Amino acid sequence: MEVVIAKDYKEMSKIAANIIRDQIQRKPNSVLGLATGGTPIGTYEELVRMHKEEGLDFAKITTFNLDEYLDIPDNHPERYLNFMKANLFDKVNVRPEAIHVPTNKRKGAEEFCAWYEDEIEKAGGVDLQLLGIGPDGHIAFNEPSSSLASRTRIKTLDESTIEANARFFDNDNAKVPKFAVTMGVGTVLEAKKLLLIANKKSKAAIVKAFIEGPVTSMVTASALQLHPNAIVVLDEDAASELQLKDYFKWVYKQKPDKYL
Ligand code: F6R
Repeated sequence: MEVVIAKDYKEMSKIAANIIRDQIQRKPNSVLGLATGGTPIGTYEELVRMHKEEGLDFAKITTFNLDEYLDIPDNHPERYLNFMKANLFDKVNVRPEAIHVPTNKRKGAEEFCAWYEDEIEKAGGVDLQLLGIGPDGHIAFNEPSSSLASRTRIKTLDESTIEANARFFDNDNAKVPKFAVTMGVGTVLEAKKLLLIANKKSKAAIVKAFIEGPVTSMVTASALQLHPNAIVVLDEDAASELQLKDYFKWVYKQKPDKYL
């Protein structure tokens, strides 16, 4: 696992966007796996800037989002499809038919999950998967105890996730959907490259756990340790509890091709 420590959120977002830009430039028809939540907003802002100012071309890109709330109304701004439109899809030239976000509808959700897995396979698999990490160590909505071999399915959200996401729902836990359709850990691990981003002091303990602790379904992000091509980009706050912090900085210093 490569760990890059940026000085702040802005630099973390720039590094992540640069890695995604390199992927798109190397393979213009890349399949991108995308994440929602607060963390990637700066990365998407930077990608939009690259599209507008540098002509970064999304015309041949295909996207698959990690997850979607179940039972959330179609027009709700926190529906992940709407979040993605507002932050990226409506601001770049990605083709609408190349966009895939899991269903928000309970009816037919199980069939949808199997279909989603097939679509990812038909697209040739995900080339680069962007990830955030939840306070309980989840990637996508793979809450603690999710099998590390799990596939796209319906998950019940952990109370800590509901609490963490209440900030997007008028700080009212009761308004946060309790279920989601999510790619599994096994699905995520099949991407050719993983890029996890995390910032803030509140993530420092869980960041330490998934990078330096054991591989365990209690912290599903720890499954990144099993992936041969995983990059983690942190800000100083999120990296603050890492035992190997100085080593990671030293390694990056030796790297000939920096991300920034
Ligand atoms: C979102 C997702 C989640 C978030 C995680 C962190 O698509 O898959 O795993 O990445 O909950 O969320 P933020 O970035 O809001 O801290």
